[in-house]
Amino acid sequence: MAAKEKSIFVCRLCGAEFPKWQGQCGQCGEWNVLEEKAQEKTGSRKAAAGRPFSLNVLGKASMPRRYQTRIPELDRVSGGGFLAGSVTLLGGDPGIGKSTLALQLLAECIRIEKIKGLYFSGEESIEQISLRASRLLVPDELFSLSNDMELHQILHAMDTEKPQLLIVDSIQTVYSLNSDSLPGSVTQVRECASELLNKAKQKNITLILIGHITKEGNIAGPKLLEHLVDTVFYQEGDQNNYFRILRSVKNRFGATNEIGIFEMAADGLHSVGNPGDIFLSERISGVSGSVVAAGLEATRPLLIEIQALAAKAAYGAPQRNSTGVDHRRLAMLLAVMEKKLHLPMSQSDVFVNIVGGLKFFEPAMDLPVLAAIISSVLDKPLPDGCVLFGEVGLTGELRSASLSLKRVEEAVRMGFSHIILPAASRKALVNMRVQPDLHFIANVGELKTLISSRSLTS
Ligand code: TYD
Ligand code: MG
Repeated sequence: MAAKEKSIFVCRLCGAEFPKWQGQCGQCGEWNVLEEKAQEKTGSRKAAAGRPFSLNVLGKASMPRRYQTRIPELDRVSGGGFLAGSVTLLGGDPGIGKSTLALQLLAECIRIEKIKGLYFSGEESIEQISLRASRLLVPDELFSLSNDMELHQILHAMDTEKPQLLIVDSIQTVYSLNSDSLPGSVTQVRECASELLNKAKQKNITLILIGHITKEGNIAGPKLLEHLVDTVFYQEGDQNNYFRILRSVKNRFGATNEIGIFEMAADGLHSVGNPGDIFLSERISGVSGSVVAAGLEATRPLLIEIQALAAKAAYGAPQRNSTGVDHRRLAMLLAVMEKKLHLPMSQSDVFVNIVGGLKFFEPAMDLPVLAAIISSVLDKPLPDGCVLFGEVGLTGELRSASLSLKRVEEAVRMGFSHIILPAASRKALVNMRVQPDLHFIANVGELKTLISSRSLTS
């Protein structure tokens, strides 16, 4: 029996589907945005039994080519380069440096791998891109550029120009004339991305889609493209600062939870191979209120400077201000200081800052943050060459932090010989290859004693 033809109602803006027409979209709340669409018939396709199929033997399948960029931090995040025929989504806030990174990687891939590259941009004019390319010292005759963002034009170019690498900047500016939704709407983004992806897979083209993050923090709607693509990278950073972090949140061909660190300079993004050199470069040792912490970004240990200032509150309610650390944990640490260390914090303004604009919301920052505040309150600097990490519990006990061994090894690599850490971390360090001076402490009281005596012999 033939399946009955049914229609559904789809929101033009957010793509939500409803069985009946209604004036307002139940998902995004917009009015008059539902459109009737024929639902795909189910049961109209018959399974073809006994069709010939092929099986591949693992190990005999040929390995696809990987395009290296020789941009060290990018190769690190991508797991050694971009695989031929893979589709990557490069997301981030507007102005963070996505187009800059895309242009640099395109130029490097072309130079090193001798492949053909195409750049479609709906964000900037050809003149603007040429200007940027000359600033980045990228000869613009290396690749072809277009401003035509109509989907079928891009698909046509993929067929006729036969690029090996294609950059689409941004997926929100691609539109299909076959759809009457606005460019950037969920329906358009979804349709265009999946058509580009299919073509890329069919023609073995490495496709990089750039996507802006919307106010809600998603790339054009709720995680719309993440499940479609092979790899998702997010570029993060503080607009007022020149560090940029590239984070891999999904990678079908490499490790996730990997980060790359870049510095934005006048001639583009530069890999920061040794982040400690930069994040600690302006630190003055021997001053109260400043400590060095061993933090963890994804699985990569980073040494950073934490500064704290505690001063008598001048007016009314004391201020608590934190940049780069979790303000709720700061409130907890101040309460622990009052209760367990008998330091009167209720009348003090407290400011805490991670230098360099990085954010570390992990519990292992408790111990260094607390040490910086105590150091400021007592006006005593920590002994020279110290690094700290560890979690503080509500009873003032110290708890071990994740990947302690990696943190210790990074501290030693950076030339710090004294590490102050929770006694509970001892068992995680049995396989340590380096021999720094480890100062195990069990509770916040021991930390206060250590700072007030400025002595590491315990
Ligand atoms: P851009 O790549 O256009 O960001 P996105 O594509 O994510 O919107 O970069 C924007 C910022 O980067 C802009 O404010 C200028 C700055 N910038 C530099 O500092 N140096 C450079 O060499 C380039 C190309 C950009
Ligand atoms: Mg851009």
